[in-house]
Amino acid sequence: MLYKKYSLGVFPTPLERLDNLSKKYPDFDLFIKRDDNSGLASGGNKVRKLQYFIYDALEKGCDTIITAGAQQSNHCRQTAAACAKAGLKCHLLLGGIEPQNYNGNLLLSHLLGAKIYFTGDNRKGEDIIKLKQDLEAQKRKVYEIPYGGSNLLGAYGFVDAVKELKKQLSEKKLKIDYIFFASSSGGTQAGLRLGVDLFGIDIKLMPISIDKIGLGDKALDDAVLEILHQGQKELSIQKTYSIKEATLIRGYDKPGYGVITQNEKMAIKQLAQSEGILLDPVYSGRAFYGMIDHLKSNKVEKNSNVLFWHTGGLPANFYYSEELLK
Ligand SMILES: Cc1ncc(COP(=O)(O)O)c(C=O)c1O
Repeated sequence: MLYKKYSLGVFPTPLERLDNLSKKYPDFDLFIKRDDNSGLASGGNKVRKLQYFIYDALEKGCDTIITAGAQQSNHCRQTAAACAKAGLKCHLLLGGIEPQNYNGNLLLSHLLGAKIYFTGDNRKGEDIIKLKQDLEAQKRKVYEIPYGGSNLLGAYGFVDAVKELKKQLSEKKLKIDYIFFASSSGGTQAGLRLGVDLFGIDIKLMPISIDKIGLGDKALDDAVLEILHQGQKELSIQKTYSIKEATLIRGYDKPGYGVITQNEKMAIKQLAQSEGILLDPVYSGRAFYGMIDHLKSNKVEKNSNVLFWHTGGLPANFYYSEELLK
């Protein structure tokens, strides 16, 4: 659409009905959008954002990418894969201290050739500026992807995703009433909101908050609203956004980021054992639990068609194996 992108994944991702789970919750028809099948190094939602970032980086003549995240960041693993494909050097700033054993996403980021730095408590990109200066002093041309890939350019990946969904719904003659998904750095949420408004689809977005800590000094809702304001102008959307459109569904994030409870375990097992589809314990497992809880507690209108947007994250299951087996 508006901006050019570098092809990295396999799109459209499948849109499937969850037949067995729909039988278990007979008041609803349940569907899933398989961004876990987006094709790059085990897939996930960030591939959509990276197609825009990588195009932009190459266009600007950059040879190096820096981004940041938690040690088990799916975003960083997918960025490492995108850089490998595009011939760019990838530098990852990951929270915590170097572990003895590399596992899950961290192992994959290493195999994909990223240069990894461990940044202690700074897991949200606080150290990017300093590293950028150091690399520029070494004559590298550096492109910075923000934490989680969440700015307007990244969000375009999900504006595009709504266009893709709209086509699939029209082909299947299907109406979706609600979309549940994991929201953590806000780009997926902002992109879906802008897309739904740009393409005029009547769907309620249900962003389940994953991480109760905001971005720097900003609450996540405010960060989402900022992207919405920018996008509204760029895309000429006839609407004035308020904090209401940027608000996340809180409560499921209470235990903290990356803390696995019975809820996430239940959600992972329920989808795995009813449909053969694997979630992850940090993001999609928590969001799926949130959806099931909404269905069970009558927070979703009966006879609705409900879509779960699977944002990926499979490799983290291996890192959290001890908690998942408990
Ligand atoms: C598997 C998975 N789902 C959802 C998200 C949240 O997406 P966003 O950061 O755009 O809010 C992430 C972010 O890292 C993720 O890795």
